[in-house]
Amino acid sequence: MADILVIGSGLAGLIAAIRATDAGHTVTLVTKAALPDSNTRYAQGGIAAAMFPDDSVESHMVDTLRAGAGLCDAAAVRVLCTEGPARVRDLIRFGVDFDRDESGVTRGLEAAHSRSRVLHAGGDATGAAIESALVATVRERAERARTLTPGIDGAGPRLLVREHTMLVDLVVAGGRVGGAILLGPDGELQSLTADSVILATGGAGSLYPHTTNPALATGDGVAAAWRAGAAVADLEFYQFHPTALAVPGTPLVSEAVRGEGAVLHNALGTRFMLDVHPGAELAPRDVVARSIAHEMAGQDGAPVLLDATGLGRDLLEHRFPTITAACRQAGLDWATEPIPVAPAAHYWMGGVLTDIWGRTSLPGLYAVGETARTGAHGANRLASNSLLEAAVFADRAVRALGVSPVDGVDTAGDAGADAVQGTSDPRPAAALSGRSTLPFADREGIQRVMWQYAGVLRSGEGLAAAAATLAGWNRPATGPDADPRLDMQIQAYEDANLFDLARITVAAALGREESRGAHYRSDFPASRPELAHTVAFSRATKDTT
Ligand code: SIN
Repeated sequence: MADILVIGSGLAGLIAAIRATDAGHTVTLVTKAALPDSNTRYAQGGIAAAMFPDDSVESHMVDTLRAGAGLCDAAAVRVLCTEGPARVRDLIRFGVDFDRDESGVTRGLEAAHSRSRVLHAGGDATGAAIESALVATVRERAERARTLTPGIDGAGPRLLVREHTMLVDLVVAGGRVGGAILLGPDGELQSLTADSVILATGGAGSLYPHTTNPALATGDGVAAAWRAGAAVADLEFYQFHPTALAVPGTPLVSEAVRGEGAVLHNALGTRFMLDVHPGAELAPRDVVARSIAHEMAGQDGAPVLLDATGLGRDLLEHRFPTITAACRQAGLDWATEPIPVAPAAHYWMGGVLTDIWGRTSLPGLYAVGETARTGAHGANRLASNSLLEAAVFADRAVRALGVSPVDGVDTAGDAGADAVQGTSDPRPAAALSGRSTLPFADREGIQRVMWQYAGVLRSGEGLAAAAATLAGWNRPATGPDADPRLDMQIQAYEDANLFDLARITVAAALGREESRGAHYRSDFPASRPELAHTVAFSRATKDTT
């Protein structure tokens, strides 16, 4: 049995920790904030799985592949859709109480699904219900381990939870990941060794000023993996949710609301989606997000309106209590008036390149959940496939722990990358000279550049301007010498991660001269099937010890 370090406490990290503990490993679960603080908590719509008699794995696969716009890895999609129902049953066993009516578990319809197959809990509080059931399971496992007496009960502690502990960097020795450098709640940097590290740190919504993610989503795992030399891929594919409430904090307004029949209007009262796509408001997410951005551009940036008044107060309040509360807090009554909505950064299809067992290109390093690029989402994730992907691949990563791949870790081939491009640093050489005189990047500046040039609508000219702006900044200074205060240290490490990720994301977006899924270039509006490969960026692996 091995020492396993799991980093992150959303669905993927919690499942990995539970599974690894149950498999007999000694597990340390590290998380940046408190255990329940994660992006999972904010998921509303639910979790998609082919679990109903009128549905099939094949149908779920077809919908997933279609949404992915030709860039899904078919093997990853098959795994996702085939193993999904069993993993949902696991969640039920771990205590997740999915909503039911007299006929059994209820299900919702979301964009680009050919059938209703989205299970939800607490109406629109699915992520919160899953997070709290899994946190309780982890705490119970950790408590049980704590009370065992080594030698008497036959086992030592097996699951240790360390909250308020941030990943700073991975430790690489002899070409293998052997632990991590962590920043603890006491402000001290500590190196923790492990036989394997499972990254489950989520996405990086904080790259953008408008996001449905909590502020802690700063891509720490993807950035650390990239710095350690792991291949990362598809970073240019960032999904923008079409309908975040256009008020400070941009809370999500679930696609399930449109699934129930809500419609979108522009400032003139025109239901514009009817002219855009046969699916209208339930067209693929990227299509709806782009159309809204287009309408907003034509009305001086004003948000469009989501009209859910036809659904009735009863349904809105019972099926969508979280959104009802967010509207109320913003002084809106969505049962009687349309609400302002706009796109916001929501989910990163790109991430650390893995095979279908969560293995990255670095031995000893696994990535699961939004941190990973498994290939299951392609260029555009199908709604409610993210929680499913996290559950399925976290389970598989634990099953693969310590098992050498038969043919070596073929992340490129196995994950569907026909070609891998490498770059050691996306900055032009000129920007590296005179580095010390450059101003330091800050979060607001990074977010402004990303929103303006690497957001819903992109162009080569804009992306080149973004690359030049980023190249004109120094990476934020980190460490106690820069500022000894703990909150400032955390923020500096986060900002440095966002800076690294912004640079490689912009470089990836600039390199992809086509429009596909979530990546739309006005200078290359058509898809180019010959570019149907994954672009991965990887530095030469170098030891950190
Ligand atoms: C939503 O409820 O609209 C979000 C679901 C998802 O992102 O999969």
